[in-house]
Amino acid sequence: MLEQIVKPLLLWYDRHARVLPWREEISPYRVWVSEIMLQQTRVEAVKPFFERFLRVLPDVRALSECPEDDLLKLWEGLGYYNRVRNMQKAARVIVEEYDGTFPADYEKLLALPGIGHYTAGAIGSIAFGLPVPAVDGNVLRVLSRVKASYEDIQKQSVRSSMEQEIKKIIPKERAGDFTQALIEIGAIVCVPNGKAKCEACPLAFCCLAKAKGIVEELPKKKEKKARRVEERTVLVLREGERVAIKKRPAKGLLAGLYELPNLTGYLGEEEVLKHVRELGFSPLRILPLAGAKHIFSHVEWRMTGYVVSLEETKDMDREGLFFIDAKETEKKYPIPAAFAAYARYMDIVLGQEKYEERQ
Ligand code: ADE
Repeated sequence: MLEQIVKPLLLWYDRHARVLPWREEISPYRVWVSEIMLQQTRVEAVKPFFERFLRVLPDVRALSECPEDDLLKLWEGLGYYNRVRNMQKAARVIVEEYDGTFPADYEKLLALPGIGHYTAGAIGSIAFGLPVPAVDGNVLRVLSRVKASYEDIQKQSVRSSMEQEIKKIIPKERAGDFTQALIEIGAIVCVPNGKAKCEACPLAFCCLAKAKGIVEELPKKKEKKARRVEERTVLVLREGERVAIKKRPAKGLLAGLYELPNLTGYLGEEEVLKHVRELGFSPLRILPLAGAKHIFSHVEWRMTGYVVSLEETKDMDREGLFFIDAKETEKKYPIPAAFAAYARYMDIVLGQEKYEERQ
């Protein structure tokens, strides 16, 4: 039954596929980088990151050799930094075990760090033309609707059975286009937010959800647990033109990135001044800043902040804090976007915003 989607879908893709940087020239490395970036980030946001990443690290070998701070800096603003750490681990395996060339084999791709069924399927089919499925959230949505299936798409068993169904109908001579067409129709016609554009859909003729009038009810997902909310106070500690930052621990949220000093809870001016004095600094002035929030996958930070001007001190390491020039930070120290609202007060622009300001 699903077989009937193949031809209309490919015809539609030939006419409507968006021009995207990773489609202009296809290689396993380019497909890999783009798919990893696209896992948590919108296409429009990924575009400039993709181009810059490829310019700085044009191949697997360059990625395998990149110093960690530079790598995290390149990823700054994309979030979910473990994605790029795993990419580097995988790049090292590819260099050591495969002489720098991606294996054209689904199981071998799957065995690489950070590469799951979806990414192995995307690289396998798009870059190597292998008849292997790549089922992401877009594809799950399209299939749930075409089949009018109420199965919970967050279940691994449901995902696996959709992969098996897709595998049976992949056209051997156009495996990569078929993968991209399924993703594309999910991204621009059978959309995740807002109303599906059924009038423009080449699969409307066989879509059971459309026939039954239940498109908007699908796909079914279990309710997500609410995010934990954490209140924090962020400090911009200034010494003349320089600002204090600190490296986060190697494990956990935002591991290995640099941060503005911050404390649990909403602190008042007096409490902040006390803390700053306890660190051994002499505060001259304090200025409260507006609130901000940042959403991670499982936690939400609600922040308040202060700029505290300090009397010049000798460079001392106080709880790992060190002072840097704002310009230096822009090039060198990866600071996560969670601090973007406060990094403004050190006159630096982070990650995504760098591109937005330029436009
Ligand atoms: N989302 C995930 N993978 C994609 C791709 N290859 N092209 C466009 N959007 C995508």
